[in-house]
Amino acid sequence: MRDYANLLFEVASGVGIITINRPKALNALNYDTLQELNELFDQLAEDQTVKTVIITGGGEKSFVAGADITAMLPMSAVEGRKWAKFAQAVFNKIENFPRPVIAAINGFALGGGCELAMACDIRIASEKAKFGQPEVSLGIPPGFGGTQRLPRLVGKGRAKELLFTGDMIDAAEAYRIGLANQVTAPEDLLNAAKTMAQKIMTRGPVAVELCKAAVNEGLDVDLESGVAFEAEVFGLCFATADQKEGMAAFVEKRKAVFTGK
Ligand code: HXC
Repeated sequence: MRDYANLLFEVASGVGIITINRPKALNALNYDTLQELNELFDQLAEDQTVKTVIITGGGEKSFVAGADITAMLPMSAVEGRKWAKFAQAVFNKIENFPRPVIAAINGFALGGGCELAMACDIRIASEKAKFGQPEVSLGIPPGFGGTQRLPRLVGKGRAKELLFTGDMIDAAEAYRIGLANQVTAPEDLLNAAKTMAQKIMTRGPVAVELCKAAVNEGLDVDLESGVAFEAEVFGLCFATADQKEGMAAFVEKRKAVFTGK
């Protein structure tokens, strides 16, 4: 893995930890940072030793305070559209990454930062985290998927309130409305994300991957098509060693040891 200018990356016990690291700009996403994230996820897709990924923010204050406003100020309509499309492609890549991705939200998750967190599978928030889609205060709507992923997560009414007012909400409110899965003390945040990652890693990896695919696929289609997809991936699992191992372990009253095959 090469060194990145705006990201830190380490692997510990099969968990890849990505830190968005521009703390002076509260980790705002500029083109280079998104390009680096894009490249890193391409590499991780090929690297089977990394079983889950955690994304967090560098410094004390911020997960990601949005897309870089300074970089967006002079953009033309054509450039703005291109910028949104590029970021959306990166976030779609993260959303469809074949292994779980957990956001460990240590501070501001605003605009593109909230949108990045929503592209992850699970959001764990520090008590200090703040969420919001403040774009309307800048005269723009969200462009990195916020108008689509927020209502899917919290429902249409709450999403519209957050999108129209641009209000920030704290971690407790984010938890209450289903935007955060869990809230922890700031000092426990990374450990909570690692514990969640390790727990998932004891389960059947192919089954977890197919759960992710079925949820993602199903939310974009009607129920009948979604459950039809579920039946296909369910059947597919019976061709895996993990299904034999998982069920044999249950019958033999022992812990399953999965190989992801
Ligand atoms: C560029 C940013 C930034 C951002 C913060 N900074 N957010 N730079 N883009 N999104 C910079 C500040 O300019 C400042 O730089 C430094 O980070 C510290 O920020 P302060 O404002 O001094 O900190 P504080 O007073 O604690 O306020 C924190 C904050 C505020 C509430 C998070 O920074 C803020 O409102 N930021 C903007 C949040 C936002 O609107 N996000 C949405 C962006 S639009 P200097 O050099 O002065 O120290 C978006 C759209 C995505 O995400 C879709 C596009 C297609």
